[in-house]
Order: sequence, then structure tokens, then C-alpha cells
Amino acid sequence: MTVTKWPPIFAILVIQAIVFAGLSLVLPSANAIVGFAIPVFWQMCGQGVASAVITKTFKFGWGWVIGQLVAPPMVILALASGLPMWIYPTILILLVLVFWNVATNRVPLYLTNTDTSAALLKLIPKKKTVKFVDLGSGLGGTLRYLASQSAENQFYGVESAPLPFALSWCLGKFSGNHNLKFRYRDIWKEDLSEFDIVYCFLSPVPMARLFAKAQAELKPGSLFISNSFEVPDHTPNKIVTVKDGRKTELLIWKI
Ligand SMILES: C[S@@+](CC[C@H](N)C(=O)[O-])C[C@H]1O[C@@H](n2cnc3c(N)ncnc32)[C@H](O)[C@@H]1O
Repeated sequence: MTVTKWPPIFAILVIQAIVFAGLSLVLPSANAIVGFAIPVFWQMCGQGVASAVITKTFKFGWGWVIGQLVAPPMVILALASGLPMWIYPTILILLVLVFWNVATNRVPLYLTNTDTSAALLKLIPKKKTVKFVDLGSGLGGTLRYLASQSAENQFYGVESAPLPFALSWCLGKFSGNHNLKFRYRDIWKEDLSEFDIVYCFLSPVPMARLFAKAQAELKPGSLFISNSFEVPDHTPNKIVTVKDGRKTELLIWKI
């Protein structure tokens, strides 16, 4: 079955819907067996457990599985809490604006740490001026750090999640770094030919396609650097292991 190829947000909603339909069918028999009407909260706990098990069966990551487990009972708790109804759509809209690319590209938002940014700085050649791009630049922290430490080079962020882009753009302006620009754009629409160094911290999902794009568009001698995620069937030319808590690996290919 191709569930794992669907956009995950769609797949998890379909799983919840199928489980809901299945449990609705067996609920009358379950009530008869236990001898009382099973409270809605416990029904939703069952909904969460069944959805989580099916989601794990389809090899989704633990984040999705835990989300599937806790979401149904949380909805009941939230409704019972008496909070004003506008809060729920507001939270949902904010989450969508931040985690825009989880649903479509399977890339969540997590951030490059300072030790890794410092390791990236060391990889920038000193002899010539370079253009460095962070594909999926998130809140832009890595680029603000690099731009402040390396005034002679140009730094670009490409981001399509609305809220992280807006924040990175504002923080970039406040930082006063004139060698720093953010583009509100899908990384697949960005022409990479102008860049000397491409950095990305995405997920395993887009790596093969992104590396093919980099190979097609980057100038010979440019660097393609992936934080943590390998490119299937392509061994990196160099791996830098950062001395941080998670021993981050920067995988580096020379094009
Ligand atoms: C794991 S975060 C990394 C953020 C930042 N590069 C850092 O290292 O701190 C990945 C980012 O890529 C963005 N992203 C994923 N797919 C994208 C796409 N197709 N176009 C633009 N941005 C994308 C996500 O919205 C997210 O902000």
C-alpha cells in the first residue's frame, strides 16, 4: 500500500478516520460486553492507541505515532476545559504556518545548533568571496551567526514556511548584517547555480532529489553540505563530526 508515499498529514487523517469508523461499528458490542456505555474519553484513548499502532505499522516516525496516540484524548480534554472555542483554530493555524513543510515535504522545523554553525564557519574558504545558501533556513539563526562572523561573504536563506520566514526576515533586518538575505521561496524553485556552498538540514526524504538538483546546477568545485542526512548511493567526500551533545555530522560533497 502506498500510504507512506502520501503527504503525511493526509495519511494520518485517513488513518484516524478509518479507525473512527471501525470503532463506531464495534462500540455497541463493546458496551454490551462491559455492561455500561464506555465514556467518550476512553473511546478516544482507544482511538489513539489503534491509530498509533497502524501509523507505526506503516513505518511513520515516532513523532507521528505519538501525535496519533495523544491527539484524540487531547481533543476531549481540550473541549472539556472550557477554553474559548477560537483558541483551537488559532493554535491550528499557527502550527500550520510554522510546520508548513511537514505536511507537504516531510521536513519539520528543528534548528542547527551553535557548535555546528561554528563548524560550518570553518568550512568556508578564506581565499575568495563565496555565496552560501541555507536551503530551508528556518528561523535563520545559522545564517545570522555566519553573516556576523564572515562579513566578506554573502549569505542567503530560502524558506517557504510563512512564520519562520517572516521571523527570520525581521531578525535578519534587526541584526544589521548587510551580507544576509532571505527569500520566501520553495527550495525546488531556487536556481543553485549562483552559490558556492549549499547547506541543508532537512530530512532523509528530499535528499536524493536535492543532491541531483545540486549536481545539475552547481558550478564544479562548489560544496554541498548536509547536516546529518545522507544521500542514498553517494558517499560524501568528507565528514566533519561536531563536538556537540548529539555528535552532529556534516556530510560534505565537492561537486
Ligand atoms: C530542519 S529545519 C532547518 C532550519 C535551518 N536550516 C537550521 O538549520 O536551523 C528545515 C527547514 O526547511 C524548511 N523547508 C522544508 N522544505 C522546504 C521547501 N521545499 N522549500 C523551502 N523550505 C523548506 C522547513 O520549513 C524548515 O524550516
